[in-house]
Amino acid sequence: MVTAAKTRLYPTQIDLPAEARAQLVELLNQSLADTLDLKTQVKQAHWNVKGMNFIALHEMFDTFAGTLENYVDMLAERITALGGIARGTARIVAQTSNLPEYDLTAEEGRTHLQALAARYGQYAAAVRRNIDRTTELGDADTADLFTEISRQIDKDLWFIEAHLQA
Ligand SMILES: [Fe+2]
Repeated sequence: MVTAAKTRLYPTQIDLPAEARAQLVELLNQSLADTLDLKTQVKQAHWNVKGMNFIALHEMFDTFAGTLENYVDMLAERITALGGIARGTARIVAQTSNLPEYDLTAEEGRTHLQALAARYGQYAAAVRRNIDRTTELGDADTADLFTEISRQIDKDLWFIEAHLQA
């Protein structure tokens, strides 16, 4: 993992100190990688789910993927607004993401829902930690972005888990 000390920052008039911006950029790039990874895993479920709940799950997973794609753009553009470089290529994401690889043998709806529930749970916890860490770094705007993501991801996790709770 790249350390904050090595983070290259562009000059900007934004009124956050460079040391804080360097840490924010690192944290945001980690979240960017996790979000891109989760989006591709949700697409994997969208394409490959089978069974009698196919159409409902196929469509729900695509809605989730669209939500995550929106967050990818918001995270990447917060990085560049802070003077950083967004690192969002597939190779970097594969090296950097904290999420486990998807279950490529998953077939039936329940298996996909269980795989996604585990990943959404891990992702939601990281997003919630980032609300606190960015608040501590004095960046209420990035904390607000993570709060927005957190609220929706908790809801999407509920949608996933509601299928498994009865
Ligand atoms: Fe599709």
